[in-house]
Amino acid sequence: MDKLVDEINKLKREKNAIVLAHSYQRPEIYDVADFIGDSLQLCQEAAKTDAGLIVFCGVHFMAESACLLNPGKKVIVPHVDAGCAMADMVEAEDLRNFKAKHPGAVVVCYVNSSAEVKAESDVCCTSANAAKVVSQMDADEIIFVPDKNLAAYVQTQVPGKKIIPWKGFCPVHHTLTKQYIEGVREAHPEAKIIAHPECRPEVLMLADHVCSTTGMIEAARRDPAEEFFILTECGMTERLNRELPEKKFYGLCNMCFDMKKNTLESVLGCLIDEKEEVRVEKSVADKARSALDKMLELS
Ligand code: 13P
Ligand code: SF4
Repeated sequence: MDKLVDEINKLKREKNAIVLAHSYQRPEIYDVADFIGDSLQLCQEAAKTDAGLIVFCGVHFMAESACLLNPGKKVIVPHVDAGCAMADMVEAEDLRNFKAKHPGAVVVCYVNSSAEVKAESDVCCTSANAAKVVSQMDADEIIFVPDKNLAAYVQTQVPGKKIIPWKGFCPVHHTLTKQYIEGVREAHPEAKIIAHPECRPEVLMLADHVCSTTGMIEAARRDPAEEFFILTECGMTERLNRELPEKKFYGLCNMCFDMKKNTLESVLGCLIDEKEEVRVEKSVADKARSALDKMLELS
């Protein structure tokens, strides 16, 4: 493993490349990452990097965002088929038809979506800034795509706006039920519960903190509790254990298999061959980029 890490780091230097990684990646990927973060931070990092080559370790929509924010740079992924089940739940044509039924509404699109869907939207958001973005919209009605759970959570945070949700959800988070969380409370009465806003509303009501993946690190750091139960993809528990070794984190075995496709071997192969390259057609890219730029402006 150390040999693979050395080889990747050497190639990164030779090719002026950086590796951006989402927290849900396998922990060995953290060892070659120049930056690990949530979707918002990865967008911000992609927008400011000087590197000519970006190796994106996450899922497709994240790499696509990095590509949109860096028109002159090459963005490559180890597995082009690492997708997001929730992003696949909305298509641009269906969104166009939906918009026609709500002519006064503004479209806020969760970054977990394709470039085509972003191009149909007024602004993007992530789990870290969704309420902040929605609250700054100059409209009373907001079409929120694709996550119905994040939409419901934003509605509780921004009661002055009417959120019209899409029907998408993340299968990894949506499977967590209220009964399950009640069981967790009983088994770990001392532990605080930190949940991702992609969880169901009735689950979020039982959580002590609701935040993005990076927000979870900050919440656990600030909270004086010593034990936490983490309601999100299982990789986050690994990340928290590394970031805050003095605290104890329990998690679940709910895994996003797409996030786990990348391995050190495939990252090395990707750097050697400089592929698969992520590209977005210009007619779509210009509009999608403007929705992402607007989000970065408002964040
Ligand atoms: P974050 O932006 O909070 O990292 O979430 C991304 C994601 O895909 C959660 O399932
Ligand atoms: Fe998509 Fe869910 Fe995987 Fe996040 S955890 S990338 S929302 S399928």
